[in-house]
Amino acid sequence: MPQYTFIFGNHPVLSLAELCRVFAVGPGEVVSLYPTAVTLKLSLTKNEVLAHLPGLGGTTKICTPLPSVPDQDKENLVHVIVSWLQTIDNTGKLSVGFNYLGPHPLDLNEIAHLAKALVKLRYVLPVGGVHLSAAQITHNQLDNEKGFDLNIIETPTGYALCSTLAVQNVDFYHDRDEGRPLRPSDEGMMPLKLCQILLNLALHGKNPITVSAPLVLDPFCGSGTILQEAMLMGYQTVGSDISKDAINTAQANLIWFAKKFQKWIPLQANYALLTQPAQKIHQALGMEAVSAIVSEGFLGELFLRPPALEQIHHQNQQLIKLYHEVFVALRKVLRPEALIVMSLPYYLQSKVSLLELILDDIKQIGYNLESWFEEDLSARLSVLAIQQPTAYGSYIYSRPRQIIGREIIILSKT
Ligand SMILES: C[S@@+](CC[C@H](N)C(=O)[O-])C[C@H]1O[C@@H](n2cnc3c(N)ncnc32)[C@H](O)[C@@H]1O
Repeated sequence: MPQYTFIFGNHPVLSLAELCRVFAVGPGEVVSLYPTAVTLKLSLTKNEVLAHLPGLGGTTKICTPLPSVPDQDKENLVHVIVSWLQTIDNTGKLSVGFNYLGPHPLDLNEIAHLAKALVKLRYVLPVGGVHLSAAQITHNQLDNEKGFDLNIIETPTGYALCSTLAVQNVDFYHDRDEGRPLRPSDEGMMPLKLCQILLNLALHGKNPITVSAPLVLDPFCGSGTILQEAMLMGYQTVGSDISKDAINTAQANLIWFAKKFQKWIPLQANYALLTQPAQKIHQALGMEAVSAIVSEGFLGELFLRPPALEQIHHQNQQLIKLYHEVFVALRKVLRPEALIVMSLPYYLQSKVSLLELILDDIKQIGYNLESWFEEDLSARLSVLAIQQPTAYGSYIYSRPRQIIGREIIILSKT
């Protein structure tokens, strides 16, 4: 069965969870797992696997695995790279780009130089970092038959190597993000890749979606970021927000999006927008009409500096009441097999979780907290030095300098 290495972005646990759901990966398919990448055995052709790349928010590259290096000795690393290059049927000079992923520094210049002494080679090194940009890869023709983009991944015991088959299209992300006509500065916007990950988590659950035209709901839709990415995946969508301004913003953005990206949006995709509080969404939508709920919940007051515990406590009292009503209403519109993937506010500096306070209530309302991975994979994950789901089953997503992080949960109906 062919093997493929998937190189992750900045949130390897989310990326891995997304991949496992999209490819319905069982424990037997995971050949090797590193902090920054995974190799999977998939009974899919190269083109079938690569066709998934634009829809995978957490994967930056899909690669072919190469022989690995069983220790962290630099000379052995060069030897394995050179042995691989010598197997390539090529007349003339090989072009090879070098990338490194790992916790410890590795001098790519030295590795490339040592390799060049042993095999005819033109090498390309990252500018001011350890990864070649997508532009460098394309510009230097490392993504076609004339060249190779080599990834060196530090593992707990040595190095894994893989050669890139395709890279995430950064320009496409840039165009659909930066070009949006209205970008709210106060509430913030969901990063597009995170939207894709959450949508994939929600739409590839254990129980397949049975309706022919699944409807995706974002009940706190803000500027409509999640709706736009769901449309690109081909879903019918409905967004609601308590604020008329937010709905107007989403409307302007989605009109722009539907026009500008028409040729990429599958025909069946569409959107509807409602000005409606989330706690009353069942009054606007039919019972069990929704096949997935993906949302970034209301964060409460947006503090300019880390709030004191007292402020957080005060805020959480209001949010606890709101989210109780919201989860009661959402359960009514959700199909029996459907999932909710939602982010709730998490106060990063004081490590206060709203979810922890409402988890029992959520279960009482009639939800299960879904686990992120099969048991076997969780055990393998626990040896890697990366941030993992919390003990109570959430994942905290944050970016540098944020005050409020996003605590992500996956819920199913009991
Ligand atoms: C964190 S923002 C969502 C941002 C959105 N994901 C985006 O990318 O633009 C939360 C949104 O929840 C809305 N909101 C606040 N309370 C609400 C409620 N009770 N029901 C529905 N929406 C609410 C706010 O108006 C805001 O637009």
